[in-house]
Amino acid sequence: MEYGLSIKNNHLYFGGADTVELAKQYGTPLYVFDEQLIREACRDYKNSIENYYDGNGMVLYASKAFSCKEMYRIANEEGIGVDTVSGGEIYTALSAGFPAENIFFHGNNKTDAELEYAIENGIGHIVIDDFGEIDRINEIAGKMGKKVTVMLRVKPGIDAHTHDFIKTGQNDCKFGFTYESGEALEAAKKAIAAKNLVVSGFHCHIGSQIFSTDPFCLAAEVMAKFIKQVEAETGHTVTELNLGGGFGIRYTEEDEPLPYAEFMNMVSRQLKVSCKELSLTVPKIYIEPGRSIVGPAGITLYTVGSIKTIPGIRTYVSVDGGMSDNPRYALYGAKYDALIANKAENPRNFVATIAGKCCESGDLIGENIKITTPETGDILAVLATGAYNYSMASNYNRLPRPSAIMVKNGEARVIIKRETFEDLISKDV
Ligand code: LLP
Repeated sequence: MEYGLSIKNNHLYFGGADTVELAKQYGTPLYVFDEQLIREACRDYKNSIENYYDGNGMVLYASKAFSCKEMYRIANEEGIGVDTVSGGEIYTALSAGFPAENIFFHGNNKTDAELEYAIENGIGHIVIDDFGEIDRINEIAGKMGKKVTVMLRVKPGIDAHTHDFIKTGQNDCKFGFTYESGEALEAAKKAIAAKNLVVSGFHCHIGSQIFSTDPFCLAAEVMAKFIKQVEAETGHTVTELNLGGGFGIRYTEEDEPLPYAEFMNMVSRQLKVSCKELSLTVPKIYIEPGRSIVGPAGITLYTVGSIKTIPGIRTYVSVDGGMSDNPRYALYGAKYDALIANKAENPRNFVATIAGKCCESGDLIGENIKITTPETGDILAVLATGAYNYSMASNYNRLPRPSAIMVKNGEARVIIKRETFEDLISKDV
């Protein structure tokens, strides 16, 4: 088994802890994270910059994948920065003591209030997404008597092969400025001319859950050309390049992820070649992995309730959570692997449709998942749920959001408390 999983006495262990005991102690549904896996992923990326890019860069954890105070503490301890996309994420990071200078602020529609909050707090980089934002940041910075370091988000025109909703590098996309049409160059000129902005570099993010290094290399090549073009047209040389995140992970055995270091290996080669050809100094590089830092490091534990066989059709195995804690099947048809944690060694020859408890037919965790014959009261573990599960959870049907615990060497601690009914009505008047 992989991803921190092992089996002892027919029980599934994660991060050295017996998941059946965790379910008993903390209740279900329960998000469980393995701290060691999170830290190892941070280090893999960090080391890849050391080894392949002479340490001239920084890893930014894309905190939209799983945002809570403990994650920002871990990222800080690992010496990496974070990517945020809202005032709320920035607030969470700052309240965990995360250094403002290592925060990047993204988003295609940042409000004035969010920009003011970010600038006031000295957020390290703001990644500009549209023309209006250039004026707004310049103005807010001017009023506060500050200079703001910015990047511009560029669409390099690359169509990464992934789900339509999570690809972002192609021209028809709500994020950033188009390279091909010259829009990005216009934006760069405008931002460079703005008195209170310091344009340190450019950013692109081509999509998510990508398994090949090719689109990243292509993006690096296009971005290097763009840096040169901006230099030629404005005389301004930027020194930083942010290539975004999107590195794929294994959800099921159909997925074959590359070792994370491979992305930096290939991208760094490409960048060095491109910069040489263009007579550019190689820029400081940033990468923004989210899913690959926390995805495999998280599992969700549920208790099996109703089991309903529709003869000749399928068996619905219902659990005590669902799209409210993991909307990814409903949104993307995402696939997951799962097993019965209290019968972890039994043969998995039962084909189940795992359903949630929400009042909605599409509320599934997955179809055709092979588990061992389930019984009511079993603990079902759904694997690789660490990214975009808690962060996209909702209170649909007024289900309280589950607790999240962090496990380290078999010891567990609560990092997010389970919501109560009282929490559910706490904002009602
Ligand atoms: N940087 C930027 C600017 C991004 O927009 C994203 C993800 C990342 C980094 C991190 O990408 P990652 O390494 O996690 O793939 N909710 C969807 C994923 C949306 C991704 C949005 N942006 C899902 O559940 O698959």
